[in-house]
Amino acid sequence: MPAHLEATRETLSMTAPSGLREVVAGKTGLCSIDGARGRLLYRGYDAVVLAEKCSYEEVVHLLWDGDLPGRARLDYIRDQLAAARGLSPAALDVLRRGAQGGDPMDVLRTAASALALGDPDAADRAPEANRRKAARLASGIACAIAAFERLRRGSEPIEPDPELGHAADFLRALTGKRPDATQERALDACLTLHAEHGFNASTFAARVTASTLSDLHSSVVTAIGTLKGPLHGGANREVMAMLESIGDPARAEAWFREASAAGRRIPGFGHAVYKVDDPRADLLRRISKGLAEAEKDPRWFAISVALEPLVKRWKPLPVNVDFYSASVYRYLGIPSDLFPTIFAAGRIAGWAAHFFEQCADNRLIRPEAEYDGPAERPFVPIEERRA
Ligand code: ACO
Repeated sequence: MPAHLEATRETLSMTAPSGLREVVAGKTGLCSIDGARGRLLYRGYDAVVLAEKCSYEEVVHLLWDGDLPGRARLDYIRDQLAAARGLSPAALDVLRRGAQGGDPMDVLRTAASALALGDPDAADRAPEANRRKAARLASGIACAIAAFERLRRGSEPIEPDPELGHAADFLRALTGKRPDATQERALDACLTLHAEHGFNASTFAARVTASTLSDLHSSVVTAIGTLKGPLHGGANREVMAMLESIGDPARAEAWFREASAAGRRIPGFGHAVYKVDDPRADLLRRISKGLAEAEKDPRWFAISVALEPLVKRWKPLPVNVDFYSASVYRYLGIPSDLFPTIFAAGRIAGWAAHFFEQCADNRLIRPEAEYDGPAERPFVPIEERRA
C-alpha cells in the first residue's frame, strides 16, 4: 500500500463493522431502543403504550415539541395538521402523471419534492419555519398517498374533512369510506408505531442530508428513497406478496418447507437491532386479530400466525414491524403496493424530529472509508489501454 494511504489508515481510529452494526453514530433524545429486551421508548414513553392510548397527533407533538400535549396544545396541533391538508398544484400534477402506472414510492418521493414548490417557507431554515413545513409535509404526504390511489382508479381526490383526526381522514381519503372506530384506531396505532425508530436507515439518511444544511423537503425526499428498499420499508409489501402466494393457512407449512430449503429470506423477520421480537409486532398481531374478527376474514391473520412459529423454529429470527402490519393494512382495504407509503406517512414524524435535532446541534456527517482498491499506479494513455 502506498505510503500516503498507510498514513491515512493510521489516522483512522478503527474500521467500523459491516453495515455500521452497533456503531453509535450520534446522540438523540427522541427514541431509545433496547434490542436485547425488545423495548422501544419515544422520549421515555413506551411506544406500544402510546400506540394503544394516544392519537398520532399526540405523538407528533411529543416528538416535535418535547412532550405529550395537554388539551389546548392537542387542539393546536390537530388544527395545524388539519389546516395543512390539501395539495399544491405542482404536487397534484406529479400525482396525475404518476397515477399512470408509477410505482407508489417513486410517486410519493417525487410528490414530496413537489410539495416544496409553492411552500411559503421552502427556503427558510429557521426553527419555526421548519416546524410549519413539517406539519405541511405530514399532512401533504398523507394527502398525496390518498390522491394517488384515487387518481389511478380514475376518481378525483376527496376533499379533506377538518373535523376528522389525521388517521381517520387519511383512511377516508384513501378508501373513499369513513372508517369505523376500530379501523380508525388501527391506522392511528400503526402510524404511531411507525413514527420513530432511532438511527434506522431512512432516518440516518435524512440526518446526513440535514447535516449539509440542506432543507427539510430534501431530507424527507432522501428518507423516502431510502425507505423504499425491501430490506427496510419495502418489506411490508413483500410480506403481503408472501401471504398471497401461500393463500391458505393449511399451505403455510408446505410453502415454508420449500422457501427455507431454497434458502430464501422471509420478509417480516430479522432485525438489525432487535435480538428478540420487535415490541411493535405484538401490538400489530393483536390489531390484525381484531380486524380479522371484525371483517369476518380470518385468512391473512391465520396464515401469518401459522408461519411465525415455523420461521422461528428454523432460525432464531425475531418477528419485525413489517410482518403483522401487512395483514393489518390489507384488512383496512389498502392495496399492498401502497404499504411502504403508509410506513412513510407514519415515519414523517420521526424524520422531521430528527431534522430539527440535527439542525439544533449540527456538524457535517462525513465518515471515512477504508480503501481496498488497487495500489497507486502510473497513468496509462488511452492508446495503451487493453479494453
Ligand atoms: N429470513 C431468513 N434468513 C434471514 C433473515 C430472514 N428474514 N434475516 C436474516 N437472515 C439470516 C441471513 O441469511 C444470515 O444468515 P447467514 O449468516 O447464514 O448468511 C443471518 O440471518 C444474518 O443476516 P444479515 O442480513 O447479516 O442480518 P442483518 O441484521 O444485517 O439484517 C435485515 C437485518 C436486513 C432486516 C434482515 O433480517 C432481512 O433481510 N430481513 C427481511 C427483510 C425485512 O423484513 N426487512 C424489514 C426490517 S425492519 C424495518 O426496516 C422496518
